[in-house]
Amino acid sequence: MKPYRLVRQSRAYPVYIGTGLLERVGELVGGGGKPFLLVPAALAECYGATAAGSFDQIDVITFDDGEGRKTLETANALITALLERGARRDSVAVVVGGGMAGDTAGFAASIFLRGIDVVHVPTTLLAQVDSSIGGKVAVNHPKGKNLIGSFHVPRAVISDVETLDTLPPAELLSGVFEALKGGIIADRVLFERIVEGHELLFADSGATRTELLTDIVRRAVDVKADIVSEDEREGDQRRLLNYGHTVAHGIETAMNYQGITHGEAVAWGMIAANAVAECRGVLPREACNRIDRAILDLRPRELPPLDRDVVLAAMGHDKKFTGTKRVMVLARDVGRCEIVEDVTAAELELAVDAVV
Ligand SMILES: NC(=O)c1ccc[n+]([C@@H]2O[C@H](COP(=O)([O-])OP(=O)(O)OC[C@H]3O[C@@H](n4cnc5c(N)ncnc54)[C@H](O)[C@@H]3O)[C@@H](O)[C@H]2O)c1
Ligand SMILES: [Zn+2]
Repeated sequence: MKPYRLVRQSRAYPVYIGTGLLERVGELVGGGGKPFLLVPAALAECYGATAAGSFDQIDVITFDDGEGRKTLETANALITALLERGARRDSVAVVVGGGMAGDTAGFAASIFLRGIDVVHVPTTLLAQVDSSIGGKVAVNHPKGKNLIGSFHVPRAVISDVETLDTLPPAELLSGVFEALKGGIIADRVLFERIVEGHELLFADSGATRTELLTDIVRRAVDVKADIVSEDEREGDQRRLLNYGHTVAHGIETAMNYQGITHGEAVAWGMIAANAVAECRGVLPREACNRIDRAILDLRPRELPPLDRDVVLAAMGHDKKFTGTKRVMVLARDVGRCEIVEDVTAAELELAVDAVV
């Protein structure tokens, strides 16, 4: 089967996007050493079993997911299980699940015997459009998220959009915001597809919805893959992917990662960044309104009252360094963003005040 595209990083890897792929994981992974399927217990019976059934033989290792379990302990438990079941340097870890699973099991695979091959089979929209692409894997530390990690480019990524049919609406919405982000950064058509299709996206499953989801995943993967691929790496373009993330990080920290999905935090973060961009005159008011309206029409949950100083502190804003310059990604139009390195303290405050 022909992949949707190849991503060229330290190695080139195929990304498959479509339907009926879970049944073909074994075929798409290809030969090599003994395969291991790593899957959260909650997904083991449905998606784990289907993917496992596509192999002649595979060892299945389950673990509990949830952001609170994205830890060194979980990664270590996976490594212990791999050792006990005889995994070796040429074994391949096939990881089925959302971003938590991909990050945690991917990290375990990246350090096990100095790294074994990993194949991502993402089952959330966020994981399909974002976390499975690019090679970053990590677990959390009590002092912060994703502080223990590595860079481990996968052997392949297999995204079966039919798995999204069972995704809770809040998780779907989280991924939609990351996809919308990709549209605003570099693909106006992706932005339009989401805006025009948003009712269909949250309707019951059906062929038209699956087609729309396939298109959205493909386009969002293209945006991220183009940015992370090595031939395109001029300077540090990867930072473009942080559009909306400066303030999002502050919001998530102030809320202790409770009562908000990552995508929703990014949604408010994009609105916050747009306020700065519009004030600077880089983003015309009309484009700013279009983007903000598209975000609000998708209905991110309202933010509770937050401590402005906590949000600012988490964004790296320190009153002692009022004079120093900071980096933010600002939109210039739908489909075009830029990295701005001279953001002032006052602008960071303006961003936060726009949404908090
Ligand atoms: N490595 C990267 O580049 C990168 C990028 C973005 C985010 N991330 C990480 O991704 C994580 C978030 O990932 P996420 O949003 O996928 O959340 P998640 O992995 O925590 O999954 C959310 C919930 O959905 C469930 N689930 C997964 N697939 C399902 C399906 N098809 N049907 C029903 N339920 C399903 C999971 O069991 C879980 O309860 C964070 O830890 C974040 O740091 C990493
Ligand atoms: Zn994000």
